[in-house]
Amino acid sequence: MPFAHIRGTGSAVPERVLDNAELEKIVDTTDEWITRRTGIKQRRIAMGDNNESTAALGTRAARGAMEMAGIAADQIDTIIMATITADRIFPSAACMVQKELEAFNAAAYDISAGCSGFLYALESGNNSIKSGMSRTCLIIGAERLSAIVNWEDRGTCVLLGDGAGAVILRRQDEPGGLLSTHIKSDGRLWDLLYSDKGNAPAPESLAGLVGIPFHLKMEGNRLFKQAVPCMASIAEKALEQNGLSREDIQLVIPHQANLRILQAVSEKLKIPMEKFFTNLQHYGNTSAASIPLAMDEAHRQGRIKSGDCVLLVSFGAGLTWGAAVLKWTL
Ligand code: COA
Repeated sequence: MPFAHIRGTGSAVPERVLDNAELEKIVDTTDEWITRRTGIKQRRIAMGDNNESTAALGTRAARGAMEMAGIAADQIDTIIMATITADRIFPSAACMVQKELEAFNAAAYDISAGCSGFLYALESGNNSIKSGMSRTCLIIGAERLSAIVNWEDRGTCVLLGDGAGAVILRRQDEPGGLLSTHIKSDGRLWDLLYSDKGNAPAPESLAGLVGIPFHLKMEGNRLFKQAVPCMASIAEKALEQNGLSREDIQLVIPHQANLRILQAVSEKLKIPMEKFFTNLQHYGNTSAASIPLAMDEAHRQGRIKSGDCVLLVSFGAGLTWGAAVLKWTL
């Protein structure tokens, strides 16, 4: 049975930083409240004249991963893009990325699984490699959540941001790489976090954000209560299936929704917070982009060494949640 190894990581974020102080001028909130309740200090917002569409951010992240992996565009067999903010309802953002990369030997498609989208995409890429359908998969998580946020609702707009991350998954015979993926959903709770309209165009400036036809709706408090047990139990299942103890895990790369959620998951799993990689203070919650964006930063900062066991764990709209265990071989 072949193994799917991560051979390269990449990420991209918009240039425009929106920090908590500036957000205080948009909605009735404070830096103190946002920091204490979420850990977030700033987020990135895509601007219309910076070529920062979801597909453009995804393409930039993909190029970083391809460069690290030494993979040319024509070697890619499958492009899977996790996103809930594709630039158009159709065609898929993955096809737009394919065009930009000129990866014309690939099949390209999107996956919608909210903040768990990247882990769903990783599972599809893993299955494609293990079944012999693909040798090289490009897996991307990219979002422009600023397009679907109600910039007059302080309960949600302070949490979210834009960005992208990508990995190259490659078939190798040596054991390692992706050891397992677990994904779960509970559609009964879809109405805790959902969209009711299409995306707004990117504005020319921050002033253009207020008044966009918003449509992201969220029951934050109830989501918080669902997120913690779901993330902890699927992470435990992943460890158990691989015969790993919590001490065997060198780094946890979780979905970056809220520092308090991560602290509660850390307590439940009895894996100390020092082993949790967090960058939500810089980017907020970037949904499907958050895990690959964090993974790229963790790798480039030297937080993961070859041979390390890495646990990925997510939770998001759907509801969806998931976990993956990696033996890092980069
Ligand atoms: N600034 C100031 N006050 C705010 C605020 C803001 N940005 N957002 C909400 N508040 C107020 C509320 O109006 C409420 O006031 P009240 O007590 O007078 O009614 C108070 O703060 C508490 O609100 P509540 O929603 O209970 O706060 P919370 O502790 O649950 O924190 C979240 C809110 C959204 C940060 C938290 O619930 C959360 O992170 N949930 C998970 C969200 C998530 O991760 N979603 C994505 C899933 S992947």
